Amino acid sequence: MAKKNKKNWYIPAGQPITELDKKVLAFQDRGVLVPPRTLIKTPEQIEGIRRSGVVNTGVLDLVASEIRAGMSTAEIDRLVYEYTMDHGAIPAPLNYEGFPKSVCTSVNEVVCHGIPSEDEILEEGDIINVDVSTILDGYYSDASRMFVIGETTPEKQRLVDVARECLEIGMKAAQPWGFVGDIGKAIGKHAHKNGFSVVRDMCGHGVGLEFHEEPEVDHYDTRRRGMLLVPGMTFTIEPMINMGTWEVFVDEEDDWTVVTEDELPSAQWEHTFVMTEHGLEILTH
Ligand code: MF3
Ligand code: CO
Repeated sequence: MAKKNKKNWYIPAGQPITELDKKVLAFQDRGVLVPPRTLIKTPEQIEGIRRSGVVNTGVLDLVASEIRAGMSTAEIDRLVYEYTMDHGAIPAPLNYEGFPKSVCTSVNEVVCHGIPSEDEILEEGDIINVDVSTILDGYYSDASRMFVIGETTPEKQRLVDVARECLEIGMKAAQPWGFVGDIGKAIGKHAHKNGFSVVRDMCGHGVGLEFHEEPEVDHYDTRRRGMLLVPGMTFTIEPMINMGTWEVFVDEEDDWTVVTEDELPSAQWEHTFVMTEHGLEILTH
C-alpha cells in the first residue's frame, strides 16, 4: 500500500519563506493537517471574490424584494439569470456538472439543489432556500438565504431561525489557527439543543478560484479535528438543518434534488467567508 503523502504545505522554488510559512510549517511538523499553500488567497484574489460577492448579494436582495406567493421558482431563475448577466457576471450553477438552471430553489422538504420549474408555484406558508452562486472575472462567490412566503407555522419559522443561528455560531467557532472541525462541532450542538438534526451528506467548501475547492466543511460533529484554518483561506459555511431525521435522498427523476428521508422540512443559510487574523469576514454581505 502506498504511503499517503500528508505534506500539503510546499514553498514554491525561489520564493522567500514568510512568517506565515514558518507558522504553518510548525503545525505541519507536528502532524497537523494543513491546507495546500495554494488555498491561501492573495489580497488581489480576495478583492476579486469580494467583488463577485457584491453581485451575488445584489441577486439575493433582488430575489428578496420580488419573492411572493403565486410566483413560480422558474421566475426566480429568470430574475437571477438576468441580474447576473446585466452585471457582467455568470451564474455559477448554470451547466455546472449538468445543472440546468441558474440558481437552486429548495422548497420545504427539499434540502438543497432544487431545480427551478414553471410548475412549482410558491404558496403561503412555504419556506424556500434560494442558493445563489456567481462568477465575476473568474472569481466565485456563494451564498443562500431562506425566505418565508407570507406566514408559516411556528415550528417551520423556528427551523428557519435556528438554521440561521447555526450559521452564525459556526462562523464564530471558526478561528484562525483553529480547525475546520470546530465549526461542525458548534453547529451540531446548537441544532440538537433545539431538537433538530444536521445533514451529513452535503458540506460547505473552499470557494473562490473554483466553485468547490478544499476543504470540505462538515456541519456536524465528525469527531475529527480536520484541516488547520489559516488566514487567507476562503470557504463557505452552509448548514442544512432538518426538523426530523438528518437522512436525505436524491430524487431519481432529476438526479439533483436532495429531499429529507422523512419529508419533514429543512432550512439552510450560507455565506462565503475569508479567514483573517481576527476571525471570519463575510464576503457575501
Ligand atoms: N450552491 C451550491 C453550494 O452551496 C452548489 C450547487 S451545485 C449546482 O455549494 F449545480 F446545483 F448549482
Ligand atoms: Co456552497
